[in-house]
Amino acid sequence: MDGNGRWAEERGLPRLAGHRAGTDNIRAILECCVELGVEVLTIYAFSTENWRRPRDEVEGLFALMTEVIERETEELHRIGVRVHHVGWLDDLPAHLVQAMETAIRTTSENRRFTLNVAFNYGGRAEVVRAIRRIVREGVAPESIDESTIDRYLATAGQPDPDLIIRTAGEMRLSNFLVWQSAYAEYFSTPTYWPDFGRANLLAAIDVYSHRTRKFGGVLTA
Ligand code: IPE
Ligand code: MG
Repeated sequence: MDGNGRWAEERGLPRLAGHRAGTDNIRAILECCVELGVEVLTIYAFSTENWRRPRDEVEGLFALMTEVIERETEELHRIGVRVHHVGWLDDLPAHLVQAMETAIRTTSENRRFTLNVAFNYGGRAEVVRAIRRIVREGVAPESIDESTIDRYLATAGQPDPDLIIRTAGEMRLSNFLVWQSAYAEYFSTPTYWPDFGRANLLAAIDVYSHRTRKFGGVLTA
């Protein structure tokens, strides 16, 4: 979800106004995904690298996140969404940890749709933590394969992402699901995240549906 800052700056508003605007369309995007039969949506809300931002912005993001989770949990539960956190709760303020834990607990039985909230998340750190756990548990080296790694990641049990959408014109992965996205299709749009709505999502999925995915193989008739 990139471009909140630029969206605000172009309007002469503080960056946090852009972050707030960027939370208003999440519900519409999620509902559209549910209607289309998508099973998993991961929103990249705060990376382990975002701590480098000015303190005011970081704290503003945490406050906003808490507010949005608290406000949305009941409705997410009503429409059958399971909230899952991808990342680490350590170092986050207590209000945010509590909001996240309540959302996870309230929605844990839902099976229709999974919303992964990537918050305080980094793909490389996720792989490092997976390896540490594998070693700590004494897993036999010869028994380790790709599915072993999968099982130790925060997305264990979930399918790999099919489509990764990046807004605001950037063409980088920025440490997002680095292991899981090995064969994902990429879609980059110049639209800033607060302006990214239903029509943009449908356009991205239309482009995706015309891609040919070969996973390293060749097409067979
Ligand atoms: C993305 O918008 C939102 C978060 C990282 C929370 P940015 O804040 O990165 O927006 P730009 O890149 O400055 O436009
Ligand atoms: Mg950015």
